[in-house]
Amino acid sequence: MLNDKKVLFSGMQATGNLTLGNYLGALKNWITLSDEYECFYSVVDMHSITVRQDPATLRKRARALLTLYIAAGLDPKKNCIYYQSHVSGHAELAWILNCFTYMGELSRMTQFKDKSAKHADNINAGLFTYPVLMAADILLYQADVVPVGVDQMQHLELTRDIAMRFNNIYGDVFTIPEPYIGKIGAKIMSLQEPTKKMSKSDENPNASIYLMDSPDVILKKCKRAVTDSIGEIKYNEDQPGVKNLIDIYSSCTGKSVKEIEKEFENEGYGVFKEAVGEAVVSVLEPLQKEAARLEKDKAYLDGIIKENAEKATYFSNKTLRKVKRKIGYPDMIR
Ligand code: TRP
Repeated sequence: MLNDKKVLFSGMQATGNLTLGNYLGALKNWITLSDEYECFYSVVDMHSITVRQDPATLRKRARALLTLYIAAGLDPKKNCIYYQSHVSGHAELAWILNCFTYMGELSRMTQFKDKSAKHADNINAGLFTYPVLMAADILLYQADVVPVGVDQMQHLELTRDIAMRFNNIYGDVFTIPEPYIGKIGAKIMSLQEPTKKMSKSDENPNASIYLMDSPDVILKKCKRAVTDSIGEIKYNEDQPGVKNLIDIYSSCTGKSVKEIEKEFENEGYGVFKEAVGEAVVSVLEPLQKEAARLEKDKAYLDGIIKENAEKATYFSNKTLRKVKRKIGYPDMIR
């Protein structure tokens, strides 16, 4: 890379509305990591079309997500924030890696099994080879680390297997990426079924706080959060609802679990939930305002989009040229 920093790659899909879980569990960590690593943060719009999308909605959501990355505090001059579809290297490398990935491996991917059950009327080949595109994303930039949630670990393992397989044949072409698992408190659960992860596709609107929810809605959802009949604000496995609210409060305020237990020692759930709601609002409201401000600055955003697509293309081409030589594509005549 340009400097001695290690390379980090991660991406999010612009499908569905992002939740507080996406923010506290992923995006917020990305910001912390951006000093230490040379970061590529992609809006992975190519992944999104494995499921049928309305074109106008996809385009709008992709832009909103890219804006959100910046609004959340990722400096687009330091971090390469870009659309996957703007860098043709992703598709090119994905094709090549497809030829180094076995049907058997892809058949074992639990996300494929889940998604093909959910979209039984559209089990397309893209859905099947989705993890290969993800491998291409990561390997294209020679990423050392990839922050991912547990649900993506299997895909990252596969990425490592593909990279090692390729390196065994052609020599050291790809950096073998390591997962970066976020610290505790990062996994935010559903407000209605606190043993389940907060999800952007949850059918119960009260289960998830969306990043664009108004303060009123956020407060209401926190008030309705499922707790228990124990009546104590203590962090433990027997009180998953309370535990989740403590995690949310802790992530939003920076207070430790101990401090929080002390703060609400003599309080009931009502007071606690209200405090949680206010803490969430205090984090999301500035984020929403900044996103709205950025959205209006079209020229600025367009400039960032163009610049970063060029930067990503430059780095991806380095890898791609090497890969093409190794596998025996004829040299381009210039
Ligand atoms: N598949 C990831 C998800 O759905 C998104 C993703 C695509 C990604 N490419 C990636 C994550 C590369 C990390 C690295 O969450």
